[in-house]
Amino acid sequence: MWPGLRLFRSSYSSLAARGLVYEKHGEPAQVLQLKNVDVAHPADYEVQVKMLAAPINPSDINMVQGTYAFLPPLPAVGGNEGVGVVVDVGRHVTSVRRGDWVVPVEAGLGTWRTEAVFSEASLMRVPSDIPLVGAATVSVNPCTAYRLLSDYETLRPGDSVIQNASNSGVGQAVIQIAASLGITTINIVRDREELPSLVRRLQDLGADHVITEDQLRKPEMKDLFKKCPRPRLAFNCVGGKNTTEMLRHLDYGGSMVTYGGMAKQPVTIPVSALIFKNVKLCGFWITQWKKERAHTDREEITKMIRDLCDLIRRGRLVPPPSTQRPLEDFSRALQDSQTPFLSRKQILIM
Ligand SMILES: NC(=O)c1ccc[n+]([C@@H]2O[C@H](COP(=O)([O-])OP(=O)(O)OC[C@H]3O[C@@H](n4cnc5c(N)ncnc54)[C@H](OP(=O)(O)O)[C@@H]3O)[C@@H](O)[C@H]2O)c1
Repeated sequence: MWPGLRLFRSSYSSLAARGLVYEKHGEPAQVLQLKNVDVAHPADYEVQVKMLAAPINPSDINMVQGTYAFLPPLPAVGGNEGVGVVVDVGRHVTSVRRGDWVVPVEAGLGTWRTEAVFSEASLMRVPSDIPLVGAATVSVNPCTAYRLLSDYETLRPGDSVIQNASNSGVGQAVIQIAASLGITTINIVRDREELPSLVRRLQDLGADHVITEDQLRKPEMKDLFKKCPRPRLAFNCVGGKNTTEMLRHLDYGGSMVTYGGMAKQPVTIPVSALIFKNVKLCGFWITQWKKERAHTDREEITKMIRDLCDLIRRGRLVPPPSTQRPLEDFSRALQDSQTPFLSRKQILIM
């Protein structure tokens, strides 16, 4: 359950915390303010959490702007992801205890704050022997990548998948999880000056093929498919022309799953792809996926988080390069999180 927010009033607040609060929607740099926020003592089924670290993801920005599909009531604290340590629990809480690390399984909790009380059902324990940034960034992008690779086609070692925005947080997780399963990845990125170093970095993560948006349109693409099978699955994070080009390379009967729209352009589907290649099109939203399971079927969420944390522990799933900044330095972090081609996740350290 979303906890609601009371701004700090010393007379009835039990504990004080700091949080990045917005009272109206708008550009994050203009509407977010670091303020004192209330932290009540945890009720029977509640958990008091000291936040340790929280990333800034594109959906967090959209939520503050008021353009996201799910918007918490205002005033709200920003941030949907992060890791915290349990400092106190209500008397009926059974799934976590003091000292455990926890991550949110619900959107809109407001993770950009030093301390908060959340419902037990909105949290999940993660092991505390994995790196802090890995834990802080496990519950959105790696979970999305995990579901994209698991839920749409039955993939076997040697099969291939194709994706755009491959250097995004989700893209890098797709590369690494696919590599751990023996699945070949074809990875599209935007051209840039430092392309060779980006290609090397993605290859170091396990990317088999890295191509630019321009190369995707060239006839030489067919040479690639002499070396690897046509993809059964395409993951679309961009939209626009790039996505139509990517779709052309899908195998007969393959699926394209859209999970992001970074170019803010619609997806155009040639009718030939539908008629002659029988491609399937669908969308995925991790928030909805978790919402449908958070209260009834936590086993699937638990297994996913456990598998991902195992990969993190074994060094097979590393978070994207990041810049860690104290919460007070949120303005710089917000600015950098919206700078194109920077390719560094901004992590707020509490
Ligand atoms: N549906 C879901 O469940 C779900 C879950 C997680 C994330 N998402 C969405 O997935 C997207 C990526 O999230 P993230 O956290 O992985 O982001 P991120 O790490 O900040 O990466 C953003 C990516 O988008 C690319 N990009 C930005 N503008 C672009 C454009 N105009 N054309 C092509 N590529 C562009 C960037 O490439 P450059 O390096 O070239 O700038 C980068 O690869 C967001 O839209 C997010 O909301 C959806």
